[in-house]
Amino acid sequence: MAVPVIDFSNLDGEERAKTLAQIANACEEWGFFQLANHGISEELLERVKKVASECYKLEREEGFKESAAVKKLSELAEKNNGEKLESLDWEDVFLLTDGNEWPSKTSGFKETMAEYRSELKKLAERLMEVMDENLGLPKGYIRRAFNGGEEYNAFFGTKVSHYPPCPHPELVNGLRAHTDAGGVILLYQDDKVGGLQMLKDGEWIDVQPLPNTIVINTGDQIEVLTNGKYKSAWHRVNATPNGNRRSIASFYNPSMKATIAPAKELVDKANPEQEQLTNYPKFVFEDYMSVYAEQKFLPKEPRFQAVKAM
Ligand SMILES: [Fe+2]
Repeated sequence: MAVPVIDFSNLDGEERAKTLAQIANACEEWGFFQLANHGISEELLERVKKVASECYKLEREEGFKESAAVKKLSELAEKNNGEKLESLDWEDVFLLTDGNEWPSKTSGFKETMAEYRSELKKLAERLMEVMDENLGLPKGYIRRAFNGGEEYNAFFGTKVSHYPPCPHPELVNGLRAHTDAGGVILLYQDDKVGGLQMLKDGEWIDVQPLPNTIVINTGDQIEVLTNGKYKSAWHRVNATPNGNRRSIASFYNPSMKATIAPAKELVDKANPEQEQLTNYPKFVFEDYMSVYAEQKFLPKEPRFQAVKAM
């Protein structure tokens, strides 16, 4: 079993219907898929790889060596008492948004990442329109929901991560298992160093490294909006002794002020035999995020309950 790989360029040709169906199936059955021929040029992707790796070497690596993860892991390895490090990830990470401060010492980093983010944001919006169509929602429905109508701006963030070689991968996770809080996630992952796995029918499956593809997954807000039709999938990153895994994840999330609720069209379509037509509450996204901040690595259902009670 492998995560579906979908040729996005076929959406514009004779195979449009088949491609829509492949995306619908991937959203319903997997919560994860890989997009090939997504329209982002290989030349830009090569530059992204280069500036991200250079930035790690120049501006991050020394700091990682001094990080809590490195210190705690070495203490734990010395104790050798069978315990695993459950409170930390073996990850170096920083966030790029339109408003925050970016690394400034790496030549070409800002220009390249700004260009990449603008391309990725367009791709996210195209994908959301495909989801609208597959779900029978009016075109632009998901984008408008995340933008609070046109009142606010959806959040678009990019997490630049590295998972450096780990001396004791059996004692720590690269990134602990979780589902993503937000909307649509577009991941440009390392094409050589693997480690990302997603949970499918109770089994951890590798998200296989493939050159020039973008991995897509859907977060908790898509699950709520679709009334559970597109469920957010659990995923994790395993630490590895070899290689420094690069991973650049961009999130198209609701504005903190946006109100999120199941789409009425999809509640009406729910099975009338069910006791209640939806298990999902209506809430303001910032309230969800305050719950998520405390419970990211725990099951998601209690998060929906907690935000309902707020
Ligand atoms: Fe994630």
